[in-house]
Amino acid sequence: METMLLTKDELAQAKDIILAGELVAFPTETVYGLGADATNPEAVAKVYAAKGRPSDNPLIVHLSDINELAPFVEEIPEVAIKLAQQFWPGPLTMIFKIIPGSLPSVVTGGLATAAFRIPNHQLTLDLIKLAGVPLVGPSANTSGKPSPTTAQHVLHDLTGKIAGVLDGGSTTVGIESTVLDLSVDQPVILRPGKIVETDLLPIIPHLIQTTSQVSQEEQPKAPGMKYQHYSPEASVLMMPIDTDDWQAAINHLVESGKRVGILASENVLNKHREKDCVSFELTVNNTVEEASRNLFAGLRSLDEMQPKVDVILVQTYQGTGLGKAYMNRLQKSADNRYFSEQ
Ligand code: TXA
Ligand code: MG
Repeated sequence: METMLLTKDELAQAKDIILAGELVAFPTETVYGLGADATNPEAVAKVYAAKGRPSDNPLIVHLSDINELAPFVEEIPEVAIKLAQQFWPGPLTMIFKIIPGSLPSVVTGGLATAAFRIPNHQLTLDLIKLAGVPLVGPSANTSGKPSPTTAQHVLHDLTGKIAGVLDGGSTTVGIESTVLDLSVDQPVILRPGKIVETDLLPIIPHLIQTTSQVSQEEQPKAPGMKYQHYSPEASVLMMPIDTDDWQAAINHLVESGKRVGILASENVLNKHREKDCVSFELTVNNTVEEASRNLFAGLRSLDEMQPKVDVILVQTYQGTGLGKAYMNRLQKSADNRYFSEQ
């Protein structure tokens, strides 16, 4: 299959592809999503096949307006309406109990609930309106790889496997939406993102936050939590936040025969000799917002270097606020490992 790179002037073509039951990747403010008509089970099945995604991992249903929830959700909780007013369109996914049979089980993974969000990207909102159907949208990468933040990342992973990519430029947030489960008595954050606990607490005072890791055997609340994630081919090692001596770490790795990549802020990049490694600037101003925007792009870029990089050292941040989401993604891609000389 030839994969078309579609521009904003080719929305009608993107709509036709979706309504023909094929796949179009779409831009959002977080990461690119792999779009299919959420009401068409055959189309949705192609999403799992293209990504190589385990089929027990349910998908987020993307809408362009809160009124589009009506066919799926009998009663929208009052807090959800308040949250939607404040955060939609935006990087918040909400999980609701759904009307039985209102969505194909290939979307929900057979659960009695489903995840919904209105993404904050005009092109995609226009596409959903034009198509007149909600779109499923997992991140548009090969399962297990860093999520795509440009149309080029999508093409890198999925060329030949999907019909098109709608090019909306680089995403601004860079990591996936906060997933909030509102289907239970005590609302819980299942995946940290840009919308943080302190944003939600004024509306949901009894919120709980979990980001617990789950083993392969357990049935986790968000099925996606049990899978290996965000892993480039090179191994990823985190650098302790208080480390000053990046050069010593690089020397240690180079002496053991490794080719090293560094993903860190400008002030850190100034602390090592360029000839010893390759690097990617995570942030100029050393902010976690900018680091989050560039994390996946940086991992991908260093992984593409020739000759191949063996180890990527990545700067950590304090795990508070948006730092919680940044560290959640980084810990998964590093399989929780820090650099240490032992
Ligand atoms: O920012 C985002 O959310 C991006 C963009 C494209 O919108 N999408 C995204 O989708 O990250 P995905 O499929 O990679 O992640 C969806 C997460 C998974 O961890 C999944 O297990 C969880 O949401 N999820 C979906 N439906 C669920 C449900 N009914 N109950 C619990 N967790 C659910
Ligand atoms: Mg994903």
